[in-house]
Amino acid sequence: MTVAVLVPAAGRGERLGPGAPKALRELAGETLLVHAVRGLRGAPSVGPIVVAAPPSEVGQVEQLLAAYDVTVVRGGPERQDSVRLALAVLGPDVDLVLVHDAARALTPPAVVEAVVAALRAGADAVVPVLPVTDTVKRVDGDRVRVTVDRSDLRVAQTPQGFRREVLAAAHAQAGPAATDDAALVERLGLTVDTVPGSEEAFKVTRPFDLLMAEAVLRGRD
Ligand code: CTP
Ligand code: MG
Repeated sequence: MTVAVLVPAAGRGERLGPGAPKALRELAGETLLVHAVRGLRGAPSVGPIVVAAPPSEVGQVEQLLAAYDVTVVRGGPERQDSVRLALAVLGPDVDLVLVHDAARALTPPAVVEAVVAALRAGADAVVPVLPVTDTVKRVDGDRVRVTVDRSDLRVAQTPQGFRREVLAAAHAQAGPAATDDAALVERLGLTVDTVPGSEEAFKVTRPFDLLMAEAVLRGRD
């Protein structure tokens, strides 16, 4: 079965502060996007890769990724649009599709392989997750309403994997924006399975995350 990966990389990175789009920010001398794609190429199951780039940076992204055999498309205004635009250029031979945030730049290839293995075993949709380690409160403004039971809570990471027709159907339906692709599949009433995620698959979102990413890379050397 052919496995493709769509890489939404078109976000501005507002929460990271002023500067280049997030996927083009550097970490240890290379862009987050190059780190992310290198990790994907380290996963033996991965075939075609489609990157959704910031619309003004398509040429630069093609150059950056010239060594990695990827297709680059223009991203859209929301993450969901970027995924849909990348999905639209997949060849007919692709059976399984993973969607992986460029911002999860240090995701270990083993997580990618675990998602693919669950799909090959028959899952429609698969999400890597981690348990919630902090105590979680539901609030009303500044006041705590209730402490949430965290035992059945998980945080969702990427790559999220799907049978191709499931992802296509999920993105074809109308509805409010979702923050991940699995949420769109849930709306279809289909089952989403989980596999263990990795702490190293955290999303670079705020400046502190860049410091953490540098520490992870140092630890790997
Ligand atoms: N993304 C995208 N197209 C968009 C918005 C986001 O491809 N229109 C991508 C980002 O590049 C990132 C992933 O979706 O790899 C997860 O989004 P997020 O972490 O929110 O990144 P940004 O939208 O860039 O960050 P921010 O929300 O802080 O602006
Ligand atoms: Mg965003």
